[in-house]
Amino acid sequence: MKRLLLLTALITLATYSLADARVKVKGRGDKMNFDPESVDASFRPSMDLMSKKCIKCHTMERTVIAIQTGRAPLTGQPFDKQAVKAYGIKMLRKPNSDMNKQEIRELVVLMNYLLDENKR
Ligand code: HEC
Repeated sequence: MKRLLLLTALITLATYSLADARVKVKGRGDKMNFDPESVDASFRPSMDLMSKKCIKCHTMERTVIAIQTGRAPLTGQPFDKQAVKAYGIKMLRKPNSDMNKQEIRELVVLMNYLLDENKR
């Protein structure tokens, strides 16, 4: 009986920590965004930057889906670290992106962190 209890506790713990590893998402559709509470405090300023800069041409939903599913929603291409970097450069080249090199670099680091968090 004791063993069974221990096993149940272990399984519960395992599922809990798995569920906890993913970065949480709040809202739906146009209001969808990462939950800042589930992101390490050191990345909160970058989260704010992303929530300001990356909604100029489309909503955060696109970015959230790409990171949570590991697939770019429009092209269906894998959205991994390589894609993040390529996308950052693409953004920088877009006219009216209203972002400089430093900001893009910060957001690439943030997206890599989010991808890593979701892998754990
Ligand atoms: C200047 C306008 C503009 C800004 C600013 C912008 N995007 Fe985009 N984004 C686009 C357009 C246009 C597309 C559609 C396809 C393309 O050009 O890649 C897109 C597509 C995407 C996709 C889907 C790509 C695919 O292949 O499915 C993601 C993810 C994305 N953007 C994330 C971001 C992030 C993260 C930021 C902030 C760093 C950002 N966007 C800022 C214009 C913008």
